[in-house]
Amino acid sequence: MLQVYDLKKRYGKIVALDGVSLNVSRGEILVIMGPSGCGKSTLIRCINRLTEPDSGELFFENRSIKDMSHGELLAFRRRVGFVFQHFNLIKRLSVKENVMLGPVLGGMESQDAEKRALQALQKVGLGHQVDARPEELSGGQQQRVGIARALALNPEIVLLDEPTASLDPILVGEVLDVMEALVRNTKATMIIVTHEVAFALKVADRIILMDRGKIVEEGSPKEVFSQPKSEIGQKYKRLLVA
Ligand SMILES: Nc1ncnc2c1ncn2[C@@H]1O[C@H](COP(=O)(O)OP(=O)(O)OP(=O)(O)O)[C@@H](O)[C@H]1O
Ligand SMILES: [Mg+2]
Repeated sequence: MLQVYDLKKRYGKIVALDGVSLNVSRGEILVIMGPSGCGKSTLIRCINRLTEPDSGELFFENRSIKDMSHGELLAFRRRVGFVFQHFNLIKRLSVKENVMLGPVLGGMESQDAEKRALQALQKVGLGHQVDARPEELSGGQQQRVGIARALALNPEIVLLDEPTASLDPILVGEVLDVMEALVRNTKATMIIVTHEVAFALKVADRIILMDRGKIVEEGSPKEVFSQPKSEIGQKYKRLLVA
């Protein structure tokens, strides 16, 4: 469904992506891990061109994402859900309105968008708080709104960039539980950047470890964590034993 070939990106002297190639199949749950600054966010932001790569190719269903016109790119982005580390909710809108916004901007009638939003909020366990303002919610609840917002577009592929990174440890659990349920109950392809090793073990079909802009390890959770070849893989393995 998604192919990445030899993707490169630098920021001045910093090499964020140093030739990353990747194939993602429809329905696959891919988890990307690696130390801070290794290029995880850059990689997933390149997929929907929030970041422009310097070189390399990206294909979605055999069509070049890089060659898409502005209109085609907007249409493509409607098929991709994106969940950020910082939730980026709009303060003056209610929870429901935040989730409706994507479908409405995509041209959906507001009644239908409302239905979609309510369904998505139900899925993340917030069906009873649809009229609240974001600031009335805990961080974990706000991130669940962020996830609902991505789901409301009925995306074929969902990109999640450290969705639990800005939460305190108690709230992390509730968001991970929601994400685990989603993995089990939706057919969407997911690419999840996370540092949560136990979660990755539970949900991933495949794990990719990155280090300094490169993929250094790739395989099933078992392969990656039981016999890691890379330095980073061995560090993660030690985390698991601890
Ligand atoms: N907009 C930018 N301008 C300059 N440098 C950037 C920019 N975005 C990323 N970088 C640099 O590129 C490298 C890769 O960053 P990236 O955000 O992809 O890392 P990451 O793996 O997502 O890290 P983290 O786990 O901390 O989120 C880092 O050295 C970072 O400082
Ligand atoms: Mg990041």
